[in-house]
Amino acid sequence: MSFYSVAVRPLLFRFDAERMHHASIETAARVGWAQGLLSALYGFADPSLETEVCGLAFANPLGLAAGYDKSGEAVRALAGLGFGHVEIGSVSADPSAGNPKPRLFRLPADRALVVHYGLQNDGADIIAKRVAAARLAVPLGVNIVKTNRGAGACPDGEDAIIGDYLRSVRLFKDDADYLTLNLSCPNTEMGRDFFADKPHVERFLAALGEVGIPCPVFLKVSPKSGIPGIEMLLEAAEGHDFVSGFVFNLPAGKPDNLVTPREVWESWPGAVSGHPVESLINFSIREMYRRMDTRRYRIVGVGGVFTAEQAYEKIRLGASLVQLLTALVYEGPGVVGRINRGLCGLLARDGFKTIAEAVGTAHT
Ligand SMILES: Cc1cc2nc3c(=O)[nH]c(=O)nc-3n(C[C@H](O)[C@H](O)[C@H](O)COP(=O)(O)O)c2cc1C
Repeated sequence: MSFYSVAVRPLLFRFDAERMHHASIETAARVGWAQGLLSALYGFADPSLETEVCGLAFANPLGLAAGYDKSGEAVRALAGLGFGHVEIGSVSADPSAGNPKPRLFRLPADRALVVHYGLQNDGADIIAKRVAAARLAVPLGVNIVKTNRGAGACPDGEDAIIGDYLRSVRLFKDDADYLTLNLSCPNTEMGRDFFADKPHVERFLAALGEVGIPCPVFLKVSPKSGIPGIEMLLEAAEGHDFVSGFVFNLPAGKPDNLVTPREVWESWPGAVSGHPVESLINFSIREMYRRMDTRRYRIVGVGGVFTAEQAYEKIRLGASLVQLLTALVYEGPGVVGRINRGLCGLLARDGFKTIAEAVGTAHT
């Protein structure tokens, strides 16, 4: 039992989830100057955790997932919590107010959140200036998505959708350490369906190839389309050398393994994060790793990681990097160091000298 879970979480959970999320970002944005102090408090370093992925050096494999710091306002303090990388976004070309409130809910019995934010963010122009000015000791990833113009807006055509991504990609490609292209937002009309269609993915990747992106590019896709979706994606990515790897997003809708009674959540719109999505995401990582060219691609594993054992399982299934978001809400900032310390012990137990040695070993 940590101090956070005994004293802080019960207090925070008495207030609206989105309000507390914004308050934490505002606080973190104000204490960016204390990055070094935070690192001393929360960080955990060990040579066995250091890893190189797609040419980038990571002090440890655990990163903060997209969606916590959507507009890149608090990256310095967040990096200070001991994460090996921080991913901001999703960022869209134009600013977006997202979906109507309320749009973030907690399911404590499930160790989960229900999220229906709808991609609110300050827009690529403003956020690109923040990224250019950020001087981080850890890699900074930018997650890019198409602008959500709201449920009532005219649906965009293919050129407009691809053009929206390209505008943001051009703004971030030289300052971000890596880009994640979110092809699968579960909470917008466009995000659910457009990239389920192979010709759309192919035309999108062809257009991106023209841009000349100097940093690694990951595609964040839905886990819902299963093995056919994975095979489609691998075929579509063939020949597009700038694609470095894959991430699985939250599935749209509610999973059927929630322990919280239906009457609590059935009126809440949105997708579920945390524990309930872990098994589907792990299945997707396993199946992707089995099919992909493991010399060329890397997987970032995210979904339901609360402990070192859960992070390690994703690594053994094929993830080179791991991320979390919901665990930060339930376990507080101490979770980062706890997972990294635990990972160190698990590597030693199994005779691995580095994280890279453990990647994919569940398949052998
Ligand atoms: C509040 C919240 C907001 C999120 N926003 C985004 C987002 O803007 N872009 C994105 O790619 N993923 C977003 N995600 C998904 C997370 O990046 C991550 O893939 C997912 O939550 C699974 O990890 P977790 O179980 O550790 O939370 C969001 C998740 C949550 C809970």
